[in-house]
Amino acid sequence: MSYQTLLIEKRDNVLLVRLNRPEALNALNSTVAQELIAVTAEADADDSIGCLVLTGSEKAFAAGADIKEMQPLTFQDVAVTDKFAEWSLFTGRRKPIIAAVAGYALGGGCELAMMCDFILAADSAKFGQPEIKLGTIPGMGGSQRLTRFVGKSKAMDMVLTGRMMDAAEAERCGLVSRVVPAAELVEEAVKVAAVIASMSQPVAAMAKEAVNRAFETTLTEGLIAERRLFHSTFALDDRSEGMAAFVERRAPDFKNR
Ligand code: HXC
Repeated sequence: MSYQTLLIEKRDNVLLVRLNRPEALNALNSTVAQELIAVTAEADADDSIGCLVLTGSEKAFAAGADIKEMQPLTFQDVAVTDKFAEWSLFTGRRKPIIAAVAGYALGGGCELAMMCDFILAADSAKFGQPEIKLGTIPGMGGSQRLTRFVGKSKAMDMVLTGRMMDAAEAERCGLVSRVVPAAELVEEAVKVAAVIASMSQPVAAMAKEAVNRAFETTLTEGLIAERRLFHSTFALDDRSEGMAAFVERRAPDFKNR
């Protein structure tokens, strides 16, 4: 499939997806949303892909939802179509997705990065939820996910002032997992993705599901979900292979079954 707003590159078992609307700093219009939903569905169905990396340009991961597309919309337009509800398809994907963020990740761009499984940031990254300056509020999960990532106080600060946070602050408060020099961001993200892609795909999907439960539910319910998923790994050939390989002092050969 070909895409208007994405550049796609396969690097062994890693799918590198680049947002490509340089004229609008990768602002997320409805075509970008449809294409990201489509490419991640295809990746989920493709056994040769073990992990995805989603990145933008040096200047911008994404500068937000497309303000020019939203500007003429009425309440009826956004409410009747439940605007942005389609992103739940993206967050429901089973393959791990790493956000590799350089430059601006603002508004919907920050929200998209947070919809991925974790964020690797370039030292040039700037995160923010500036919607309040446009007379609106986050609509793609920012008020909810940012609060879970960084806590109420900093999330309030970001959402109410619309200020940006640099990469060092984002790492300190747990929004991003690592910060790397901007020139190395994509290669580093692909390397991390290749490590994930070398694991058993069904086990990686279960691990993703288990961590995501922590975002959604109570500790007691999450611990039950984790144990059931853990028990389920014992139904997989890959669990037998992983433990046999350890005992036999060799590398595992996972078959994704
Ligand atoms: C549409 C955008 C855009 C956006 C930038 N552009 N951000 N177009 N939607 N979110 C366009 C500009 O209009 C301009 O096009 C081109 O990209 C380059 O942007 P500049 O502003 O000239 O670049 P610069 O001076 O370097 O400033 C970069 C910037 C600024 C600080 C990131 O562009 C900016 O503040 N952008 C908006 C950030 C924002 O408010 N994001 C939140 C969006 S709301 P032209 O053709 O004019 O040259 C959101 C809501 C989600 O995400 C859900 C709630 C409803």
